[in-house]
Amino acid sequence: MDNFRFYVPTDIRFGKDRLTTELTDVLDVYGKNVLLVYGGGSIKKNGLYDQVIDLLGKNRNKVVELSGVEPNPRIETVRRGVALCRENEINVILAVGGGSTIDCSKVIAAGFYSDEDPWEVIAGRKGFQGEALPIVTILTLAATGSEMNIGAVITNLATNQKLGVGGPAMMPKVSFLDPTTTFTVPAYQTAAGSADILSHLFESYFNITEGTDVQDFVSEGLMRAVIKNCPIALETPDNYDARANLMWSSSLALNGLTRNGKHGVWSCHAMEHELSAFYDITHGIGLAILTPRWMNYVLSEQTVARFAQFARNVWGITEEDPMLAAKKGIQATYDFFKACDIPMTLPAVGIDEEKFGEMAKQAVAHSTIKTDAFVPLAESDVEAIYRECLTESSFL
Ligand code: NZQ
Ligand code: ZN
Repeated sequence: MDNFRFYVPTDIRFGKDRLTTELTDVLDVYGKNVLLVYGGGSIKKNGLYDQVIDLLGKNRNKVVELSGVEPNPRIETVRRGVALCRENEINVILAVGGGSTIDCSKVIAAGFYSDEDPWEVIAGRKGFQGEALPIVTILTLAATGSEMNIGAVITNLATNQKLGVGGPAMMPKVSFLDPTTTFTVPAYQTAAGSADILSHLFESYFNITEGTDVQDFVSEGLMRAVIKNCPIALETPDNYDARANLMWSSSLALNGLTRNGKHGVWSCHAMEHELSAFYDITHGIGLAILTPRWMNYVLSEQTVARFAQFARNVWGITEEDPMLAAKKGIQATYDFFKACDIPMTLPAVGIDEEKFGEMAKQAVAHSTIKTDAFVPLAESDVEAIYRECLTESSFL
């Protein structure tokens, strides 16, 4: 296990009915001028917007709104947010939504103190060490973990780039996690979010660092929680405990708990971010399509032990032969996503082979997967994995 620091100071307020008594006290720590950031309107449909506006109104807050944050949030929206913060002397950003809304808020918060254009903050990619406005979140979708981490991912459609940035000041100060706010998440986004949580766990679990039983066994437990609860949430969207388990898994899968103490870079996210950058698809869906094909592609005598462990401890596969057990685990992963009604080929989400070469080039250019991944991936490998996604697969 590598050396690490685990410092995750986000104050998590988990559970129902907390906003009424806690939200305004939390915001008042930072000031009265609030930038309320949200997406395309789901919070207006489910009543959360009215509740927040009512609470802030009674508390005499000055509320400035930034609405319409896109899934795969755009740099233009970040720029609008920075301008609003400056014009209105904003003290705190309240992000109400999923990862896109929270990510957009994080880069607005960082952009506020920066003399550079916000895209320069991201494109620099060296990590953001500057100051940021305080961020409070009300999470409405279990997926990214953005509610409890330092990262943000922003899209520049003009340049076909989707890049991540992160810095300590961008970590939310307080995040409200009320599972009831996720009752209205549609099935497609519930499945996509669950695939994203699983992928965050897979990306660190399939790693070359030795001696990380704590991280690995915690990961296996979280994977099992998602695999158990996602189908329940799909069947019964207002099942509180299913939504609660997905929500808490979202935060724990990407707050460093299962990642710190390991080295090496992620593979599927590097490949998926290019799909989103070129075709604006849903992040978790792209990951679900890529992941089993990637697993099968990197399965070898060198990696089989880890895949067999995954098959046994996560999927309960009892097969003794390690290679066969590994393949059964990969098949189970594919079948799980399919059973969640995720379209499991790239053509099914509108992607054909035309840009495979270009996207593969960018995936390698935007990351260090060629040298530092679980199994290093060159452009030709990435292209081959994309190609495997053209048709349905069977791994046995
Ligand atoms: O925009 P609204 O109207 O709110 O609708 C959203 C959106 O259409 C809807 N939704 C959210 N909560 C809802 C709801 N609909 C009904 N009821 C609710 N309670 O769901 C749709 C997707 O929302 P979005 O925020 O885009 O989804 P997600 O949370 O999956 O975020 C995806 C973004 O996060 C990035 C992804 O790349 C993508 O850009 N990621 C961020 C990470 C991070 N910050 O650590 C890591 C991840 O790996 C990921 O890359
Ligand atoms: Zn992700």
